[in-house]
Amino acid sequence: MKNFDMSIPTRIIFGKGEEKRAGQLIREYGFQKVLLHYGGGSVVKSGLLGQVKASLEEAGIAYVELGGVQANPILGMVRKGIKLCLTEQVDMILAIGGGSVLDSSKAIGDGAGNPDVDVWDYFTGKAKPVNHIPVGAILTLAASGSEMSQSAVITNEEEGLKRGFNSPTHQPLFSICNPELTFTVNKFQTGCGTVDIMMHTLERYFGWSKDSGITDRIAEGLLKAVIEAGRIADQNPEDYEARAALMWAGSLSHNGLTGLGREFMMQVHQLEHELSGMYPRIAHGAGLSALWASWARYVCPAWPERFAQYAVRVWNVEMNFEAPVETALAGIRATEAFFQSLGMPVSLEELEVEPERFEEMAEKCTNFGKRTLPGICELDKKEMIEIYQMAYPRR
Ligand code: NZQ
Ligand code: ZN
Repeated sequence: MKNFDMSIPTRIIFGKGEEKRAGQLIREYGFQKVLLHYGGGSVVKSGLLGQVKASLEEAGIAYVELGGVQANPILGMVRKGIKLCLTEQVDMILAIGGGSVLDSSKAIGDGAGNPDVDVWDYFTGKAKPVNHIPVGAILTLAASGSEMSQSAVITNEEEGLKRGFNSPTHQPLFSICNPELTFTVNKFQTGCGTVDIMMHTLERYFGWSKDSGITDRIAEGLLKAVIEAGRIADQNPEDYEARAALMWAGSLSHNGLTGLGREFMMQVHQLEHELSGMYPRIAHGAGLSALWASWARYVCPAWPERFAQYAVRVWNVEMNFEAPVETALAGIRATEAFFQSLGMPVSLEELEVEPERFEEMAEKCTNFGKRTLPGICELDKKEMIEIYQMAYPRR
């Protein structure tokens, strides 16, 4: 096990009806004026936004609002939010939605906290935020783990570049997680969420360091629970226990727990971010689902025993001691079949991506020649293109 330094200061307030405490909670923290930030309308339709406003009014908290965050959130909206926070002298941002709304809020918090710096400089690594306006969240979609993570991912729509960066300023102060708020998430987004949650753990599990028995068992247990809950939520969207398992697993999967003591680089995430950066209509979870099995088949020969362990412990595949690669491949097939059973794409052709753009995608993924991606196999541009190509044909 490698050394680690863990601190997850986000307060999680989990369960039925907890969103009603929003106003009182914000008052306890001592904030005076809040930016309510939300997406394209689901929180208006469900009545959640109205309830939150009522709760703030009851607690005597002033607010301004900014809706319209799109899935795969964009820089233009972030800039709008920064301006609003500054002119209205907002001292806290309340994100009400999924990962896109949370990430947009985190970026606004960075930008408004440091008005002299261009917020995109943080995403290109040119600068680091010193101050920030804190973010609290009411989560409505179990997927990204943003409610407990230090990441924020934003697309510069003019450049077609999707970039993430980690910062302590992104750690939400609190996240209210009521699984009932996810009952209205449709089949497709539930599938995307299930894939993304699994992937945050799988990407850590398939890092390159060995000897992490406790972390392995935590990861394998979480994956089994998510597979079971994902199946149930797909069939019965109002199953509270399944939605609760997905929601809590979503937070645990990306807060560092399932990778503690391991070295990893989220290669599939890096490959996917270029995809949804260049094709904003592609949901993050769908992009991951279309890429993962091809990535896995590509790197598996370098460490088949690891993939075989995954197959045996997570998918109950029988170990073939004569040929561990066969066991490993059976685990990859089982994962792919599970994604398909949720209606998720398992090829780039299904997503109508143009193969002639793979070169550009890989070029962007290398940060224009500035990086390779370390992992079980280190990926350079040529290898990235090969994985995109492998992922293209419909299965
Ligand atoms: O915009 P509205 O109308 O709210 O609709 C949303 C959106 O269309 C809808 N939705 C959300 N809650 C709902 C609901 N519909 C019905 N009922 C509800 N309760 O779902 C759609 C997708 O929402 P979005 O927030 O985009 O999904 P998700 O949570 O999967 O977030 C995806 C974004 O997070 C980034 C992704 O790259 C992507 O941009 N990620 C962020 C991470 C982080 N900050 O730690 C890590 C992840 O790996 C990921 O990269
Ligand atoms: Zn993800």
